[in-house]
Amino acid sequence: MEVVRFTLNGDPVEAGVRAGETLVQTLRERFGLTGTKQGCDLGDCGACTVLFDGEPVLSCLVLAADAEGHSVVTIEGLSNGEELHPVQKAFLDEGAVQCGYCTPGMVLTTTALLDANPDPTEAEIRRALSGNLCRCTGYTKIVRAVRRAAEASRADGRGGE
Ligand code: FES
Ligand code: FES
Repeated sequence: MEVVRFTLNGDPVEAGVRAGETLVQTLRERFGLTGTKQGCDLGDCGACTVLFDGEPVLSCLVLAADAEGHSVVTIEGLSNGEELHPVQKAFLDEGAVQCGYCTPGMVLTTTALLDANPDPTEAEIRRALSGNLCRCTGYTKIVRAVRRAAEASRADGRGGE
């Protein structure tokens, strides 16, 4: 066991982790943050996406030990109490959620995209989400949700924060 200390959804945390334990395992098993999905466990599906120092990463490919000193945000850390983040709201409003398995990863990837680029084109949206697979929606509603979130964030003055 090795102790790793990092910031999780804004709070300082520490955990004892096994050698070779991945961040997705730590988040789900030690912190109970099961919003982060463990899909392929191979880096192929994007379901395990979290924000690592603000950038989307595949937490099945990150060793928990490598989180030492870094900031990790999961889907549970995105909403403000009961108030959904604009990206979460846009996904609901556009009906871009079916089984929901891909949704946390999609939402976090979208959040990072809009932080970097508040007004992405459809091509930029599709490129940004190309590592996040969805078996249900056919992507059209997801792209629409991202555009809606971008509009809402810009109207809110949050875009580019
Ligand atoms: S579970 Fe990490 S990419 Fe699929
Ligand atoms: S909503 Fe089911 S995988 Fe995307």
